Amino acid sequence: MPNKKKLFVVGVGPGSPLYLTDAAKEAVRKSQYIVGYRYTLATIEGVIDRSRQQVLEVTMKSQEDAYQDVYERMKDGEYCTVPFTGDANFSESEVVDRLLEIFGDDNVEIIPGISSIQVAAAKSRVPTDKALVITFHVTGDIEQKKLDLLKAVREGRSVILLPRPWPRDLSKHFMQSDIAKFLRENGVDTSRLKVWVFEHLTTPKETQFRGYVKDLEGKEFSDLSAMVIDQVKRQTYLEF
Ligand SMILES: C[S@@+](CC[C@H](N)C(=O)[O-])C[C@H]1O[C@@H](n2cnc3c(N)ncnc32)[C@H](O)[C@@H]1O
Repeated sequence: MPNKKKLFVVGVGPGSPLYLTDAAKEAVRKSQYIVGYRYTLATIEGVIDRSRQQVLEVTMKSQEDAYQDVYERMKDGEYCTVPFTGDANFSESEVVDRLLEIFGDDNVEIIPGISSIQVAAAKSRVPTDKALVITFHVTGDIEQKKLDLLKAVREGRSVILLPRPWPRDLSKHFMQSDIAKFLRENGVDTSRLKVWVFEHLTTPKETQFRGYVKDLEGKEFSDLSAMVIDQVKRQTYLEF
């Protein structure tokens, strides 16, 4: 009996191929089909061989048809890779859940990658275990997430977050400036709250902003950005 059609859901890191793991490369090389967004495909371009692999570039709109079409075209024993920016297990579940539905859990292998969140943690020296890690980059309601953010900040915790770009409906936009305003309007003294914003992490366009949350009001940042609210108190093993 040949194996069923198999899918690799692969995290390819935040942009630079230097953050692409060997496990991710192996999955890509094994695949007859590769279906992904332009940015993510660019990260793995050096591993793809277009002479023997079928590569489909998708958008949010076209992805559903593409996944179904590839699933239909695949023969038993063939492999498909769907690459995801960063880690496929962070802020990707709306798509990953659909792929699990199409292929069936038993036919999917998820290969973790290095998230933009982890790179932001490394650059700001805010460990993920001392922070609330949160994504606003979701389609659904974010009101509860906003309350979680507020609670964490009031309790003196750090927060590592992905904002929500929504240029076509500004009421859903929750970027750095909106976040700063939201915290101030809820009684947080944002003039004393330290913050970092990282754009285009690991790429030649990478930028870094360091200041106070108050400074973010009225400032615009790229969709491709991560933010760290830094309330870390360092504590070494010498204290225990
Ligand atoms: C749908 S989420 C995917 C997150 C991804 N799975 C991860 O683990 O990094 C897309 C958001 O991730 C963040 N992101 C992804 N790559 C980034 C990078 N190179 N620099 C900064 N932020 C990035 C941005 O906030 C972007 O809008």
